[in-house]
Amino acid sequence: MAFPSAWLDELLHKNEIVSVVSEYVELKPKGRKLWACCPLHGEKTPSFSVSPDKQLFYCFGCHAGGTVIQFVMDMERLTFYEAVQHLANRVNMELPNEVNDREMQRQRAYKKRIIEANTEAARYYCKCFSDPAIGKDAQAYAARRGLTKEIVTRFGIGYAPDTWDSLMKLLKGKGYAEKELVEGGLLVHNESRDSTYDAFRGRLIFPILGVNGDVLGFGARVMGDEKPKYINTGDTPVYNKRNNLYGLYLHKNEKLDDLVMVEGYMDVIGLYKAGVKNAVASLGTALTQQQARLLKRFVEKVYIAYDGDAAGQNAMVRGLDILKNEGLEVRVIVFPDDLDPDEYVQVYGKEGFDRLKEGALSLNAFKLEAMVKGYDLNDENGRERYAKAACAFVASLQPIEQERYYKQIAKKTGYALDALKAQGVRSGGMQSTEQKPTSRGSLRRRIDTDEEPRDIIERTLIAACVHDPKATVYAANEKAEDLFRNEVYRAMFLAMRAQGAAFSLAKYIGELSEKDADTASAVLREEDAMENAVDTAADCIRRMKRDNEADEIASLQARLNKPDLTAEERNAVLKEITERIRANK
Ligand code: GTP
Ligand code: MN
Repeated sequence: MAFPSAWLDELLHKNEIVSVVSEYVELKPKGRKLWACCPLHGEKTPSFSVSPDKQLFYCFGCHAGGTVIQFVMDMERLTFYEAVQHLANRVNMELPNEVNDREMQRQRAYKKRIIEANTEAARYYCKCFSDPAIGKDAQAYAARRGLTKEIVTRFGIGYAPDTWDSLMKLLKGKGYAEKELVEGGLLVHNESRDSTYDAFRGRLIFPILGVNGDVLGFGARVMGDEKPKYINTGDTPVYNKRNNLYGLYLHKNEKLDDLVMVEGYMDVIGLYKAGVKNAVASLGTALTQQQARLLKRFVEKVYIAYDGDAAGQNAMVRGLDILKNEGLEVRVIVFPDDLDPDEYVQVYGKEGFDRLKEGALSLNAFKLEAMVKGYDLNDENGRERYAKAACAFVASLQPIEQERYYKQIAKKTGYALDALKAQGVRSGGMQSTEQKPTSRGSLRRRIDTDEEPRDIIERTLIAACVHDPKATVYAANEKAEDLFRNEVYRAMFLAMRAQGAAFSLAKYIGELSEKDADTASAVLREEDAMENAVDTAADCIRRMKRDNEADEIASLQARLNKPDLTAEERNAVLKEITERIRANK
């Protein structure tokens, strides 16, 4: 993230970490640090620490850590850029691109204006809904769908009257230009007739809010059987359905265990009314990576609760891997009888929903289940083709999981367990679509259990250098820059070597990309174990050298297996290996 370094310096200086953190928790001094119960994860004994001299925080419980910027990212669930914005606002600093870039400034003002127009529109729609005369039909429709007054208020539900220009007149009267209202999606311009009119007419209105509470767009439902059932705000300068989730803003300040993903406005609302308050909607589109990242900022676990019909099920399968690849734990709730979540809770209530949630399928169980649909299991041929496909899928899974699923397939097809397993082995496992989950979002700094020991060594070396510039000097003499394998740590070391005692970890981390900032702030994990930084550095360097050497020996050994090696070359390689092994002892 390219903020000018001097500007970021000033931002960090003005947003003194103790004062920012103290706005959220009470800090108590102990030793060189200040302590509190971690505001990022629930706990009873304080393991959250702030170091005023380093201007960094670190929680020994959940391993969150970093500068005041990362703290705000975690607390307010913001992206890096948004957190910087937030802190700049806090101390009345202008953002650098606002200073430097007129075009950017103009765009920002324009977006703000569209959001204001949307806010005016939302207010107007609400007023129309409550109006005894204008809103009569809408009120009756809402009542029929079980929407109480409280729900209507909570979700800001409104009514767009059945006229061509009442909103247009209102907003033009308030000084908005036709062009900006068209671009914002509130008005429609018809080229061929050269006429402009209200986009939503005679429909129930669901305002769509961004996580920060801005009104970004609207969904508008007919109150009869006309088509289309919904009209939604399209792409505008402030709204793109791919980047948003309906209902998420309600949870901005909550700690959630999980979220339930549904398809439609009415599913979010229906569940909420039944007492399931943590549903958000993808609004009828296949899930996008942006939406998955947004979710990841709030929770680690997502329940998918798409409509029971075929369209819902297909949309679901596509979305699942996207969520998983963002590192989210995914469970699938399957509704009986083609019901959608809203209909389901109307019949079975929250208890029914909670029971379904408890029995939710894992991602793989669901995929296997979904696979059945393509085959006719009453037919010998269908059973065989299903068994082959299912075994290929199961063979690509973890061994422990495989056992369970083979049994499931056996039950469905009647084939013997052994035959199915043999089939799986033969298929060699389907190409896995899995990627390593990326780590991001507010909960991203959980300790990484499959972390390479090598990373810990390199991190400890960096921690030693941060702790004491003498360690940096020592490491520089040992040419440590050539030893790092982790590029983030190598770059950090080079910065420390160049800046010496002037190096500021907080400032350095502040300038990194989100992902690299995670890696870099992990250094804080090692810091407290430091007795003698130079000794620690020496130890790390010794281990890194030995490690690198072992790698080189391994690659020499690999060379021995080359078929076209002459006897002479072979002897040379063997000699080199022997020497290296001796030297490396
Ligand atoms: P109800 O029928 O009122 O219960 O609405 P729902 O929220 O259950 O909607 P449904 O499951 O039919 O569709 C899910 C989502 O897809 C909706 O919330 C809309 O965002 C979108 N959608 C549905 N119908 C249309 C349509 O006709 N046009 C467009 N553009 N989007 C639609
Ligand atoms: Mn519905």
